[in-house]
Amino acid sequence: MKVPTSKAILFFVLSVLLSSVSWATAYADLNDFLQCLPKFSESSYPIIETIYTQKNTSFQYVLNAYIKNRRYSTPTIPKPMAIIAAMHESHVQATVVCAKQHALHIRIRSGGYDYKGLSYVSSVPFIILDMFNLRSIEINVTDESAWVQAGATAGELYYKIAEKSKVHGFPAGVCPTVATGGLISGGGYGPTMRRFGLSADNIEDAKLVNVNGTILDRNSMGEDLFWAIRGGGGASFGVILSWKIKLVRVPAKVTVFNVTRSIEQGALDVLYRWQYVAPKLPKNTYIRATSQVSNGEGKKKDVEVSFVGHFLGQIDELLRLINESFPKLGLQRKDCFEMSWVESTVFWAGYPIGTPINVLLNMTNMPTFFFKSKSDYVKEPIPKEGIKSIWQMVHKIEKVYVQWNPYGGRMDEIAASATPFPHRAGNLFKIQYYMSWTEEGIDTTNKYLSFSRKLYEAMTPFVSKNPREAFLNYRDIDIGANLHNQTEFDIARVYGSKCFKDNFDRLVRVKTVVDPQNFFRNEQSIPPL
Ligand SMILES: Cc1cc2nc3c(=O)[nH]c(=O)nc-3n(C[C@H](O)[C@H](O)[C@H](O)COP(=O)(O)OP(=O)(O)OC[C@H]3O[C@@H](n4cnc5c(N)ncnc54)[C@H](O)[C@@H]3O)c2cc1C
Ligand SMILES: *[C@@H]1O[C@H](CO)[C@@H](O)[C@H](O)[C@H]1NC(C)=O
Ligand SMILES: *[C@@H]1O[C@H](CO)[C@@H](O)[C@H](O)[C@H]1NC(C)=O
Ligand SMILES: *[C@@H]1O[C@H](CO)[C@@H](O)[C@H](O)[C@H]1NC(C)=O
Ligand SMILES: *[C@@H]1O[C@H](CO)[C@@H](O)[C@H](O)[C@H]1NC(C)=O
Ligand SMILES: *[C@@H]1O[C@H](CO)[C@@H](O)[C@H](O)[C@H]1NC(C)=O
Ligand SMILES: *[C@@H]1O[C@H](CO)[C@@H](O)[C@H](O)[C@H]1NC(C)=O
Ligand SMILES: *[C@@H]1O[C@H](CO)[C@@H](O)[C@H](O)[C@H]1NC(C)=O
Repeated sequence: MKVPTSKAILFFVLSVLLSSVSWATAYADLNDFLQCLPKFSESSYPIIETIYTQKNTSFQYVLNAYIKNRRYSTPTIPKPMAIIAAMHESHVQATVVCAKQHALHIRIRSGGYDYKGLSYVSSVPFIILDMFNLRSIEINVTDESAWVQAGATAGELYYKIAEKSKVHGFPAGVCPTVATGGLISGGGYGPTMRRFGLSADNIEDAKLVNVNGTILDRNSMGEDLFWAIRGGGGASFGVILSWKIKLVRVPAKVTVFNVTRSIEQGALDVLYRWQYVAPKLPKNTYIRATSQVSNGEGKKKDVEVSFVGHFLGQIDELLRLINESFPKLGLQRKDCFEMSWVESTVFWAGYPIGTPINVLLNMTNMPTFFFKSKSDYVKEPIPKEGIKSIWQMVHKIEKVYVQWNPYGGRMDEIAASATPFPHRAGNLFKIQYYMSWTEEGIDTTNKYLSFSRKLYEAMTPFVSKNPREAFLNYRDIDIGANLHNQTEFDIARVYGSKCFKDNFDRLVRVKTVVDPQNFFRNEQSIPPL
């Protein structure tokens, strides 16, 4: 271990002192903030009922209820001074107005899935504006649209759509408990992405509270801001209250499968070939390929690849297509299951076939882990030797999966500047490297963080360059971040160009207009000029 120099120690002592001073003054301001809140919210919805300070007995419970990465629920992680769990739009307005007035920092949380906990952790004193009570969903089948509040989860949305129509759906995420607040403002993708694009590509309107506490819709916010929040991350621009989404038409029956190939079964050839086929298949077909270490009982420890498929059509047609385009996969009729679209969302969430769809409404059934994730984009097929070297690392790390998500189809048709999300034509697939573990302790965490860096490093030759692109919603501060409350434009350009490429400059222009004082900020937000 490196011995800290006296200068480093001095810096450490100073920053602890300074930060305890700033927390102390912030706590002094907290009371004023809390007293300000009722003045700016509608009295028929008492805001007092939404305030949890550290003194409230349920403070810890409410804080932890939407912490999805256990790395950020440990005692040493800074806690908010208060949580405002808004129950009415005016509570959101009041929180913004009063926090600005009293110079308090806020973090906005909808589902709490941020990989780095940026929605509920900050290095400076802060308040959480929690959106979980704002989760109404109004479906209008006539109009083929719906208004969805930011705290509603993807699973609730799928369920509510299916209640009204068996032939409509919405292209959003795989994990049903991710909330639409963060999901859609960062892009949002799932197994119908090749047919319909991202969630953000299917938004007709939105309601947002701006830095002055005013509620804006598409018309009053203007097209620039409306553009920015559909992929640029909501947290830089305001608080998203709700989205008006465009429902998409799906067949009454869709088909899914999950086939696993071991190395003996030729996984190498199949996965290699997948790179040429999966991004070129018809738009209604999506096959995700995940390399992981087999963990089934009686199986020997080895890498295997699962191919999970989604097809907007029936079995016969799928079998014909795969037999023609991807015979190496060896897909058989017994592997395929026809079901309604909403049932397919349950299947993709990892539940056994036949699980009742009301599991989509179950908020308590997701165990939480410690995890670390990173992303990459691939533009040229990875040679077989490369795949083997990845597998060697997967074998060694064990608690990791390397998930390949095919692009192409509709994603190729949408211009890279149509939304802030720039990863469109030219990408074969996106990789997610996801490590999760259950052992507590900093040593275990450091072990996996080190594995994660090594794996990422080893992938360099195979992935996008200049910039090495990354998916905003797979939050990874290793790609660049403004830590310790700083806002360095040059640092922002580093992560900004990876997540947004040429769209970064337009995001900065929008930010400069709508939030010149940088009230809405976090470690990877868009800075004003
Ligand atoms: C297990 C798992 C599976 C996932 N699967 C998918 C997937 O299939 N597809 C996909 O696209 N993504 C997926 N994700 C990533 C997910 O989309 C992002 O983590 C997303 O940002 C989570 O949104 P949230 O509201 O739940 O999280 P939060 O942590 O609440 O928010 C995430 C970010 O958005 C900001 N934010 C949240 N709400 C608002 C709001 N109302 N207004 C303004 N800013 C807001 C927060 O401040 C934070 O910066 C997955 C994540 C996990 C952990
Ligand atoms: C928090 O505690 C205060 C004081 O006991 C109480 O008035 C308030 O209602 C509590 N807040 C919530 C949301 O329960
Ligand atoms: C649904 O949309 C139609 C067509 O735009 C509209 O006439 C109707 O009022 C809407 N229904 C509801 C409940 O908003
Ligand atoms: C697959 O295609 C081959 C010829 O291309 C044909 O002989 C075979 O019967 C087909 N199999 C299925 C299951 O359709
Ligand atoms: C597919 O199978 C793999 C390997 O058995 C498993 O880990 C994964 O959870 C399955 N995926 C789905 C969506 O069922
Ligand atoms: C929700 O999940 C929990 C935990 O898995 C389970 O005990 C409960 O029965 C589930 N409830 C419903 C309605 O599915
Ligand atoms: C954090 O940065 C903001 C903006 O530069 C500044 O106003 C605030 O005082 C800083 N807070 C702390 C605790 O340093
Ligand atoms: C917010 O209010 C201030 C003061 O009235 C005004 O100058 C500014 O333009 C407003 N900002 C936005 C984004 O509406």
